[in-house]
Amino acid sequence: MAFPGTGKIWMNGSLVEWADAKIHVASHVIHYGSGVFEGARCYDTPRGSACFRLDAHLERLFDSAKIYRMEPGLSYDEMHKAVLDTIKANEMKACYIRPIVYRGYHTLGVNPFPCPVDTAILLWDWGAYLGQDALANGVDVRVSSWSRAAPNTFPTLAKTSANYANSSLIKMEAIAEGYSEGIALDTGGYLSEGSGQNLFVVRDDVIYTPPLTASILPGITRDSVVTIAKDLGFKIREEMLPRELLYIADEAFFVGTAVEITPIKSVDKITVGNGRRGPITEAIQQSFFDIINGKAADKWGWLEFVYDGQPHEQVGATAKTATRG
Ligand SMILES: Cc1ncc(COP(=O)(O)O)c(C=O)c1O
Repeated sequence: MAFPGTGKIWMNGSLVEWADAKIHVASHVIHYGSGVFEGARCYDTPRGSACFRLDAHLERLFDSAKIYRMEPGLSYDEMHKAVLDTIKANEMKACYIRPIVYRGYHTLGVNPFPCPVDTAILLWDWGAYLGQDALANGVDVRVSSWSRAAPNTFPTLAKTSANYANSSLIKMEAIAEGYSEGIALDTGGYLSEGSGQNLFVVRDDVIYTPPLTASILPGITRDSVVTIAKDLGFKIREEMLPRELLYIADEAFFVGTAVEITPIKSVDKITVGNGRRGPITEAIQQSFFDIINGKAADKWGWLEFVYDGQPHEQVGATAKTATRG
C-alpha cells in the first residue's frame, strides 16, 4: 500500500508538508546509503496515545549515528521533543515513527565528512506489517540464500540505511518464491534474523534467541520479549543456534516494531510444531499486547503518553538499559 501522503514531516527543525519534504538527488545518502534511522510505534491505548519505548529507539539512533561518525544537529532531548511535537502537529492517535539522520547535499565523493548531517521525522499509519491474520495464525517463511553481513563489514548494531540493501535481497527472494519472509543465517551458518525482525525459537519449553554476535540488530522488541519471558517464568537462552533447530522447533516467532510478535508456522515448507501459534508464543504475545492495550500495568515504564493531560511516565528511565540488556 502506498503512503497516504498527508501530514507534516519534521525536517531540520521545520514542519514541512508531506508533498514538499524533498531532498536533492545528489544527496550523499541516496548514493551511498549514509543514513541511520529508527522505526518506533505510537499506540492508541485506552489511556491515550503512547509511544512504545521511544527512549530506547532514540538511544539506538544516537548509537547508530556515533558508529557512523555522524553528529546529529540536535541533542537526544531535542530529538525526543521533536518526535512528540511532530505527532501532536499531525494529531495522530497511533502511528509508525521514522526519524532518520542522513548525509545531505554537498559533494559526491565517497567521503561523507563534507556533507551536512540532516534530520527528518516522518509519521504514517502502519497496521499489522505481515497482515492481521499473521498475528494469530503465523507466516510461512524460508531460510534465505543470502547471509547477514559478516562481522566487521556492515556493523549490525547500527540501524543504517545501507544494511537494508541486504534486507531487501532477503525479502525479495522470499516474496518471489511465495513466502512471507526470509530468515537469514550469519556468515558462520548460524541463525541470525529476518529481513526486518528478530527471531525466537522454542524447543522443550526453553526459549532461544540468537545473540548480538550473530549479526543481528539489537531489537527493542527482542529486549522487551526477553524481559516478558523472564517475568512469565520461562527459561530463555541467548546463544548461537543451528539452522536445523528451526525444523525441529515446537514454536518459532518473529519480533519487531513492525511485526510486533508474529508466529512462524512453517520454515522451508517444514511445519513448525503443529503449524499453529504455540502456547509460549501466545503467552508472550498476550502479555505484550496487554501492556499496549492498557489491560496490564506498564510495570517497566515502556509507554510514554503524547498528549497533555495524559500520564507522562518515566521519560528517560529505560534509555540506558533498553538496547543492551
Ligand atoms: C533487521 C532488523 N532486525 C530486527 C528488527 C527489530 O527491531 P525493533 O524491535 O527494535 O523494531 C528490525 C526492525 O527494525 C530490523 O530491521
